Amino acid sequence: MSTTADPSAASIEQELKVPSALVEPYMAACLKELKWPGNLVDAMGYSLLGPGKRMRPILVIRGCEAVGGKAEDALAPAAAIEMIHCFSLIHDDLPAMDDDDFRRGRPTLHKHTNEAMAILAGDALMGLAFQLLIEKVKPISMAAELVRELAVGTNAMIAGQVYDTLPDFPASTDPLSKLRTIHSNKTGALIRASVRMGAIVAKASPEQLQLLTRYGDAIGLMFQIVDDLLDITQTSEHLGKTAGKDVEQGKLTYPAVMGIDASRAEVHRLQEEAHASLRPLGAAAGPLARLCDYLAVRTK
Ligand code: IPE
Ligand code: IPE
Ligand code: MG
Ligand code: MG
Ligand code: MG
Repeated sequence: MSTTADPSAASIEQELKVPSALVEPYMAACLKELKWPGNLVDAMGYSLLGPGKRMRPILVIRGCEAVGGKAEDALAPAAAIEMIHCFSLIHDDLPAMDDDDFRRGRPTLHKHTNEAMAILAGDALMGLAFQLLIEKVKPISMAAELVRELAVGTNAMIAGQVYDTLPDFPASTDPLSKLRTIHSNKTGALIRASVRMGAIVAKASPEQLQLLTRYGDAIGLMFQIVDDLLDITQTSEHLGKTAGKDVEQGKLTYPAVMGIDASRAEVHRLQEEAHASLRPLGAAAGPLARLCDYLAVRTK
């Protein structure tokens, strides 16, 4: 598939562990600095520091390194995007949205605390993400660029959640176009922003930024197609979240529209597209290539 990818189990373990080990203490330290109500900070920590895969921080860091930047410089945007992602998960699980009781192998935040706290902790994680960028990233022009990127991604994610939950498509829109719009916004937008923020921190050239954006778009859509497939092929125990919810709630998903085999073929096509985007970046993009291969075959 690619000359740069080496999807052996050991190397993928490394690709995943190294950035997570950097970003987790950084996020814990951010929460420790807060002088906000203790129950609010506890609720934020329950979600933010819970056992997630940390894919978006990993993409920020590996995206930065792919164009010659340093991981340390990517920590603030990596933590900020995980805060936005956790806010999206907390609200996605609320009774008014997907009404889920389990997340990351544990009760969802509104089950662990209550709905009011889950709404407020999600809100606070969003505010904190932008505060963090403005306070920690220097120079301020770089912080402003990252804030813009994160705001664009966050608002597209929210639009995607509206398309998913309260759709308002023109009557003529075909199911596949709707799906692409839902998925590339609700999930793709934050994944695209992750890779782009890494590139921005590393002062990527316009050509490099364009290649990484194409990679982010391909794996972003792929990520949600795989999520749809896992919802119908895995158990709740293995996923750490309730399986079978999409059929139960009549969600528009890739397997529902085109079936399992065609959805897998689409995953493979997007995987190829992601690899093609990385090729001009050479060996420095190897970790992103391996990550793409892992995301195509992940089982949780
Ligand atoms: C779940 O995202 C929500 C989607 C966008 C599909 P992840 O699968 O990255 O969830 P965590 O962070 O590992 O829990
Ligand atoms: C999640 O999509 C998208 C966001 C949280 C923005 P899903 O609703 O499919 O995610 P899961 O399956 O609950 O993790
Ligand atoms: Mg949802
Ligand atoms: Mg959901
Ligand atoms: Mg899902």
